[in-house]
Amino acid sequence: MSEHDLMEKLVSLAKRRGYVFQSSEIYGGTGSVWDYGPLGVELKRNVKESWWRAMVHERDDIEGLDASILMHPRVWEASGHVAEFTDPLVECRNCHRRFRVDILLAESGAATLEAARCVACGVTGDWTEPRQFNLMFKTFMGPVEDETAVVYLRPETAQGIYVNFLNVQTTARQRVPFGIAQIGKAFRNEITPGNFIFRTREFEQMEMQFFVEPGSDEEWFERWKDARMRWMLALGLDESRLRFHAHPPDKLAHYAKAAFDIEFFFGGTIGDEGWGEIEGVHNRTDFDLRRHQEYSGKRLEYIDPATQKRYLPYIIETSAGADRVTLAVLANGYREEEVDGETRVVLGLHPSLAPLKVGVFPLVKKDGMAERAMAIHQALRKQGIPSFYDESGAIGRRYRRQDEAGTPFGITVDGETMEDGTVTVRDRDTMRQERVSEDQVAAYLRERVG
Ligand code: GAP
Repeated sequence: MSEHDLMEKLVSLAKRRGYVFQSSEIYGGTGSVWDYGPLGVELKRNVKESWWRAMVHERDDIEGLDASILMHPRVWEASGHVAEFTDPLVECRNCHRRFRVDILLAESGAATLEAARCVACGVTGDWTEPRQFNLMFKTFMGPVEDETAVVYLRPETAQGIYVNFLNVQTTARQRVPFGIAQIGKAFRNEITPGNFIFRTREFEQMEMQFFVEPGSDEEWFERWKDARMRWMLALGLDESRLRFHAHPPDKLAHYAKAAFDIEFFFGGTIGDEGWGEIEGVHNRTDFDLRRHQEYSGKRLEYIDPATQKRYLPYIIETSAGADRVTLAVLANGYREEEVDGETRVVLGLHPSLAPLKVGVFPLVKKDGMAERAMAIHQALRKQGIPSFYDESGAIGRRYRRQDEAGTPFGITVDGETMEDGTVTVRDRDTMRQERVSEDQVAAYLRERVG
């Protein structure tokens, strides 16, 4: 299976099994926004919950926040987004399609615009002069649609954290070093969206801003780089498909002193020869707090209670995309195997992330097996274990459907169950089956699904 095939197969499986649908599909779709179906919403929630647990619940030094999407427009002047959050855009003079220059060069494999072939119409080198295009979506606050009412849909969640820095620090009685974490939607009017849920115009970020004393920032930067890579590995992503990419000094964002991306190997046309950014770790210095202090006229300094030293903390930011991590988890898990002369499609998701933990099946629909299987399924649901009941079709087909959906375990109620109260539990990955007493099933699953 080539890497191009993988993305096509994932899009098809995602639709078939209810992971991701194209937005507004009945109107022909919008192309750059996607809707998460019944299994997709659970998978993405599990990714986000794993992040929240690791960043907020397991730590004393990070607080959670849920700031609003619409903010005072001055925020985006202070942050630099009004002036700097732009991408170079060119238009093909032949077909009038527009592209982001760096993505066009990467996808066409050309070193210069003159040599770049339009991926839409095939004409080479007939481009308009690049111009800077601001990526923020604009709308109006209130009934009057004029310049004074312009507000932006946030292009990152981070600014909601900076403007609340002192609110959180004082109310949670935190001392530097400490962090603030939040998960939320962000919007960017990307010139070249694409590659399924990799680059969209509406997406979710999982961002944490860690406030440190200047001078300790480089050490914290290294600590956070390591911690974030460890989290990716704990999700079950293969080590060989993960790497760091350092931003060269001349390519740093306007706010950053140092930046590393965590990249995942998706293959196909994503990123640098298949390696695409799923998270950025940035040393933002005191840029953001200094600018907000200047633009708001409010002091944002921290006073160290032990030394009475007054300073603007430096910020180490970890910024992951919930959709990109979800796509990495799907791509990492997808495999095809030959079993008894047939192709078995398996979504080998880490059990803790799998939307459904177990499928419950009666071997046949007679002799009370269906009722017994249904009772097991309902009992599991009541105990908080997401379970799916399926009695239709041959048992082999029912297993295959759950393999494709990524469900790690299958329970079958058969003739023996009716005699001795044991069921078979089948493991998605090894396809091995073992008999487990019906009343031990919940404990068995809980031990294995995290
Ligand atoms: N606050 C810093 C910041 O926003 P970024 O590198 O621009 O940094 C962070 O974005 C993460 O957000 C990326 O690593 C990626 O996972 C996700 N992201 C950015 N743009 C995206 C898009 N158009 N579609 C999906 N995810 C995106």
